[in-house]
Amino acid sequence: MSAAAANPLDEILNTAKLLVLSGSGGVGKTTSSAALAVLAAQRGRRVLVLTIDPARRLLQALGLQGDSPDGKPAANVAHPVLPKLADQLPGGVAPGGCLDAMMLDASSGAIAMVERLLPTPELRDQVLNNRIYRAFLPTLQASPDYMALELIFELAQSGRYDLLVLDTPPMHNALDFLRAGNTLASFINERVLKWFSKVPLPGAKPKGGLLGWFGAGSSMAMGVLGKLFGSDALPDIAQFFVAFQDVLPRLKERALATDAMLRQPSTQFLVVTAPGETSLREARHLYDQLRSHGIAVAGFVVNRVLQVPEALHGGGNPAELRQRLGHLGLVGEQLERVVEQLTEAARRLEHLRTSDSGQFDALRKLAGKHGFCSAVPQREGDIHHLAQLRELAQAILDGVASGVVP
Ligand SMILES: Nc1ncnc2c1ncn2[C@@H]1O[C@H](COP(=O)(O)OP(=O)(O)OP(=O)(O)O)[C@@H](O)[C@H]1O
Ligand SMILES: [Mg+2]
Repeated sequence: MSAAAANPLDEILNTAKLLVLSGSGGVGKTTSSAALAVLAAQRGRRVLVLTIDPARRLLQALGLQGDSPDGKPAANVAHPVLPKLADQLPGGVAPGGCLDAMMLDASSGAIAMVERLLPTPELRDQVLNNRIYRAFLPTLQASPDYMALELIFELAQSGRYDLLVLDTPPMHNALDFLRAGNTLASFINERVLKWFSKVPLPGAKPKGGLLGWFGAGSSMAMGVLGKLFGSDALPDIAQFFVAFQDVLPRLKERALATDAMLRQPSTQFLVVTAPGETSLREARHLYDQLRSHGIAVAGFVVNRVLQVPEALHGGGNPAELRQRLGHLGLVGEQLERVVEQLTEAARRLEHLRTSDSGQFDALRKLAGKHGFCSAVPQREGDIHHLAQLRELAQAILDGVASGVVP
């Protein structure tokens, strides 16, 4: 391939710092994320793939079947894949290349996040043992999207990896997921900050008892909390507010930084989709939604595209079929019936093929001059080996290349 027709996905795999794969349910986001991560690591980058609920087969391909009863490895921990399994990969791994895999489980992320945000170990202990905080934990955990994004932000900041590949939840949740930083930042608005700032610094003597700390606007909330937790919980409530007075502005700052991370040029998005009108319509919708949130999409991956043999392009040829079937000993009415059925099947396949290819062209147009649309063939059998993931990555790359206009 000439330099003028450089493959844009090659460029992304070699230079991006965060690659996000989004799309509808079951289209192959998790598998494609792992596949592209394997390829980037093989080229010598330090890669972490963050997956959400990977299938057992994929865990098997990554060598990650844990000893736990559900066969899943520990969540939110980086598990080494490459160079550990380099001998399973034809071509090995370039020097320096490594791949770790992490299964995201946002439900345990809230504790880790608050731990990261609290400045001293004493405060950390106080908050984590605080009755009110523990009661609030499920509320924080109800925002798993943000927990996951925050963890990704933390990993991106750590400098441990050159590239993070992020698999996202199915489409209708993907936007909530990607907006989580912004949503949280706007929740922690001036009013909330002011409300918390009414609490005096630790050690100060409250005027008019603990309730006096919270002013008119918050005394009602204090009253509610007091009722919920009992009046003996008031010191816990006060401690919670004091700790969070410090944490909330940081939380907001980080939420904004997390949101900004998604819009940096070193962050790239791919929309993964299946062929077929409904899936492709959803992919276009997701593309528009992402763009309307200021997120640029590098390209589309149309996965599991039906491969129609070239001999059947155009709908099959009845005369040729008749001749071939004649050689097999079919004659008369029986021959005509089989020819008719096969011609009809070929016609339907041709219809699917042309309708898919028309849709791909529309996606290519939508992706624009700098974007791409890669059609990836449906593979036979499931993907359960590292070498198969590598093959899938190659198929995605080849699909991009075949659509690149030199
Ligand atoms: N090109 C392909 N050919 C054959 N099978 C494939 C291909 N791509 C993915 N698969 C298979 O499709 C199934 C679904 O893939 P995957 O779990 O990656 O989808 P997903 O988009 O992450 O799903 P979910 O939305 O449920 O998270 C898996 O069994 C995977 O092995
Ligand atoms: Mg998945």
